[in-house]
Amino acid sequence: MFGETILVTGGAGFIGCNFLRHWLKAGPDTIVNLDKLTYAGNFGNLTDLQNESRHVFVRGDICDSELVDSILERYRPRAIVHFAAESHVDRSIHGPEDFIQTNVVGTFRLLESARGYWSRLAGTDKDKFRFLHVSTDEVYGSLGPDDLAFAETTPYSPNSPYSASKAGSDHIVRAYFHTYGLPVLTTNCSNNYGPYQFPEKLIPLMVLNALNGKPLPVYGDGQQIRDWLYVEDHCQAIGEVLKKGKPGQTYNVGGGAECANIDVVNTICATLEELHPSAGQPYRSLITHVTDRPGHDRRYAMDTRYIQRELGWMPRETFQTGLRKTVQWYLANPEWTKSVTTGEYRNWVSTNYGARGAA
Ligand code: NAD
Ligand code: TYD
Repeated sequence: MFGETILVTGGAGFIGCNFLRHWLKAGPDTIVNLDKLTYAGNFGNLTDLQNESRHVFVRGDICDSELVDSILERYRPRAIVHFAAESHVDRSIHGPEDFIQTNVVGTFRLLESARGYWSRLAGTDKDKFRFLHVSTDEVYGSLGPDDLAFAETTPYSPNSPYSASKAGSDHIVRAYFHTYGLPVLTTNCSNNYGPYQFPEKLIPLMVLNALNGKPLPVYGDGQQIRDWLYVEDHCQAIGEVLKKGKPGQTYNVGGGAECANIDVVNTICATLEELHPSAGQPYRSLITHVTDRPGHDRRYAMDTRYIQRELGWMPRETFQTGLRKTVQWYLANPEWTKSVTTGEYRNWVSTNYGARGAA
């Protein structure tokens, strides 16, 4: 093994796989990647890491305490970076149970395993251990047009089963610091976008639908506002928090790029017209307003002054530059899209890894 080892959960998902690349490039650490490979965890997200000796993939569930305990004992990580979650609001509306199971129970079990492992560490190993929990701005609820942006001190007010489950996990993480002294760090970030995002989320869905001449379904009036954070900027922020964050603290991470959904979709259409001009009707003509999401939060916005001041982190990309890179990535990777939009690649992973069990 090179460097030290960190355990990443959910590293086959969108942000997790970007973080793996970021961290492997930034330093000498080995990463053990524990992922259940749900519909959102794609082995195709890790293709270029297959021959990377500093990446160890373990297929498994964070709810499986025996497995997690065995991973901690075997690899002795100095940190856990916890991405694994059910992450899609619309799916949480149709089927909330998985969200409670993975986001609440799974995070609790992981914390319990981490607490047991950490309590058996000694000296500097114990002092430098960190549990970094990746969460969302959605725990703070919905803002009105003139409200101040969410700060770390904003009271929680989650509105969807997804955000409620993430809020639950944040509270448990917090309690493990206050009660047991487990050195936890929490990041609450805004909407991410960039390479490898599963095309159920707004930006990749719109890019791929437009390229396929399918309708671009905008919920309701499309005036809901999100703050868009380029995934590489987010990974950079997580790295800084892991290196320099203060145990027990939470850090808000945002892109400083508030934008209404309809403007996001129009910008995607304009970017596509430039990079891959439509053959017939303009992409914009595919925009279709559809029935709104129940309980749809109107506006999210992040006050990121704390992480800027304490850790010197700022996003590098503007929404224009980040979106352009994202569209370019989807145009350059049709094979990836093909692999994640069919069930074939998951069948392959089941065939290849299903019977192998823990590493
Ligand atoms: P994702 O849905 O793309 O990936 C989640 C990953 O977790 C998948 O690889 C999946 O297989 C894995 N996973 C799910 N349940 C598991 C379990 N029980 N055990 C092990 N692995 C499991 O999610 P993402 O967009 O990469 O989000 C990562 C984290 O960031 C999540 O905690 C999410 O709540 C948070 N977050 C995401 C965004 C965003 O815009 N994507 C914004 C704010 C916060
Ligand atoms: P999404 O990417 O699902 O992220 P979140 O719900 O976590 O913010 O959605 C971003 C915004 O886009 C949200 O306001 C819902 C809206 N949206 C649509 O209008 N149409 C769609 O097809 C999707 C998936 C989302």
